[in-house]
Amino acid sequence: MRGIMGQARRKRILLGITGGIAAYKAAELVRLLVKQGFEVQVAMTEAATQFITPTTMQALSGQPVLLNQWQDEAGMTHIHSSRAADAIVIAPATADFIAKLAHGMADDLLSALCLARDCPLLVAPAMNKQMWSNPATQRNVQQLAADGIAVLGPACGSQACGEEGMGRMLEPAELADEIVASFQPKLLTGIKLLMTAGPTYEAIDAVRGITNRSSGKMGYAIAQAAREMGAQVTLVSGPVALTTPVGVERISVNSAQEMYDAVNRRAGDADIFIGVAAVADYRVAHPAEQKIKKSAAPMTLELVANPDILADIASLPNPPFCVGFAAESERLAEYAEQKRRAKKLPLLVGNLAQQAIGSDDNELILFDDNGNHPLPRADKLTLARLLMQHIAQRYKGAKL
Ligand code: CTP
Repeated sequence: MRGIMGQARRKRILLGITGGIAAYKAAELVRLLVKQGFEVQVAMTEAATQFITPTTMQALSGQPVLLNQWQDEAGMTHIHSSRAADAIVIAPATADFIAKLAHGMADDLLSALCLARDCPLLVAPAMNKQMWSNPATQRNVQQLAADGIAVLGPACGSQACGEEGMGRMLEPAELADEIVASFQPKLLTGIKLLMTAGPTYEAIDAVRGITNRSSGKMGYAIAQAAREMGAQVTLVSGPVALTTPVGVERISVNSAQEMYDAVNRRAGDADIFIGVAAVADYRVAHPAEQKIKKSAAPMTLELVANPDILADIASLPNPPFCVGFAAESERLAEYAEQKRRAKKLPLLVGNLAQQAIGSDDNELILFDDNGNHPLPRADKLTLARLLMQHIAQRYKGAKL
């Protein structure tokens, strides 16, 4: 079976759970990681077993849980388990466990296998806000970062103790995204990527408007893939019902004009611009401020052209590397290539609208100066990763 991201061998995560109330969220994290194709080996400290049982974690991971050093005959669990892992994730990580990591202590199985690792270590702190802001914890966290350990979160919000503040563990879905991201090649580190996604909404009156069926899924998958590869991503998004990918800056807009203004303000700073949004070509010339009342008379809406965001950015004197999308309902290759030339784009991504809209899968064809390159039909995130690898290559080629 091919696992995560099409790799032949499934990646193995050693998930360490320490003794905090957020331990219950580790159950959901295991489920999400297994669903993503990871093999998960859980290790728990004794305190963690006070919050959630090893039986639960064993059932979800499908593997016996590591609880102490003396479980295998040779007494080398800490070496074997950390060698077998492609990454170690500690979620939740208590203030006490972070202190142990910072000082290289190894007096229980989990801290020993962290010390014995030769793979990346990711830590998701979870604690009371006072414990988090304590200078000792802050010193320890800085030490972890200096030692090359990834610190994920914490977030701000309501806490189990009834207080409100910094110290909540990231949600399992966010942690799963961060873990997946940690395995992606960092081809876009230091690159600023600006992009649009979703539909636009052109008001007719106070309650009605013109929009389209773009779900935003492809654009959001591209934003996630680019961020996973190390890019600093700004996503100018029309109205969609999607969660913003972790680490992506989202600017929400409604109309094409708002999208145009938001993009223009940031274009000078961008290295790459990708127009994925299905921008309305026209808007209503005089939208009514109040709801229009029906009458028996026929009604005509006067439409005026919207600015073409992508074409305008691509014709700036010193444009970012511009990538366009073309959703066509027929003659894809012909229309896509025409569009690429008309908008002066080094790269245009084409797809058939009827296959793509709202669906989780897609089929993309890349058009550039060297012809066309079809990508295999796949889910949108897999395609987004392949596309971003291609864009990273082309961008670097264009810079030489
Ligand atoms: N686009 C844009 N601003 C617009 C219209 C389109 O930035 N006002 C971008 C889209 O995000 C996409 C590309 O241009 O990357 C292609 O858009 P499309 O609407 O297919 O192209 P059009 O030139 O409007 O052609 P068509 O006649 O097919 O509508």
